[in-house]
Amino acid sequence: MTEFITTEDGSLTLFNVEAGELYHNSAGAYTESYENYVVPSNGLGKLKETQELTLLDACFGLGYNTFVLLQSAIADGISGEIRVTGVELDPEIITLVPEVLRIERFAELRSVFGVNLPNKFGHFSYQHGKLVISLELIHADLRTTAPKLTERFDLVFHDAFSPRKVPELWTVDLFAEYYRLLELSQGVILTYSSAGAVRGGLVEARFNVYKTTGVGRKSGGTLAAIAPLPLDRPGVYKLSAEEQMKLSGRSGVPYRDSGFLAPREAIVERRAAEQSNQTLVISD
Ligand SMILES: C[S@@+](CC[C@H](N)C(=O)[O-])C[C@H]1O[C@@H](n2cnc3c(N)ncnc32)[C@H](O)[C@@H]1O
Repeated sequence: MTEFITTEDGSLTLFNVEAGELYHNSAGAYTESYENYVVPSNGLGKLKETQELTLLDACFGLGYNTFVLLQSAIADGISGEIRVTGVELDPEIITLVPEVLRIERFAELRSVFGVNLPNKFGHFSYQHGKLVISLELIHADLRTTAPKLTERFDLVFHDAFSPRKVPELWTVDLFAEYYRLLELSQGVILTYSSAGAVRGGLVEARFNVYKTTGVGRKSGGTLAAIAPLPLDRPGVYKLSAEEQMKLSGRSGVPYRDSGFLAPREAIVERRAAEQSNQTLVISD
């Protein structure tokens, strides 16, 4: 039986036994989506300005990142069209969406969805006044699907289990695919992770890297932008000199998987070997 856990802000999450991790920050699933994804992405600002927003929700899971964005757009009375592509490997998790939407904070979104809840893979469309919402939920492996996507996106919300558990979903090669998908719209990636391998990989993939607000005990997530950002964007901060320096050392060495099929162990070993080589060069 699937048992939901109530996080500190009252929203629900799950524990994944295989990864040995919660799906969300225990300080609040809703809060994490809002602080680490919705606010720093400035997605609602882009929607107001251009009447259009396209999002790739990579590792859709229970859908929090998309749902908090949609709930915020509805609450702010914004008009325009939001198109979301969600990619998720687990066919069971998506059936639990109705439980997640049960909390009071999602009341308006629930009424927009009506009886047509997005609780299975497929296409869903909704209208709320002048806001049009289109959701394409794809049952697929992100690692093999991202290289095949051809749409232009404004935002990527990247929410895989941690780099230690699934390094194959945090490679410089996957980030380079995101660059291709975001380049035309000068878009941004948001993630909860602040790991050196992740930020180092994003820098190598030509992104400008910033940090986002820390939620609970976590040190803050990461925003990666095609173009440098003005530093007055809410919830987006420059890396400190120390954080920046770490990226050019051992901890900034990224995971690599150029063919998008290397076994997890091989990806980890390759990174360790690259780190040792770097140490040898430095000590020479
Ligand atoms: C940290 S959870 C995501 C949380 C999600 N954003 C939410 O709001 O519930 C990671 C998700 O990645 C999914 N996943 C794991 N491997 C995947 C893969 N190779 N491709 C796509 N999704 C994957 C898991 O099933 C899980 O739902």
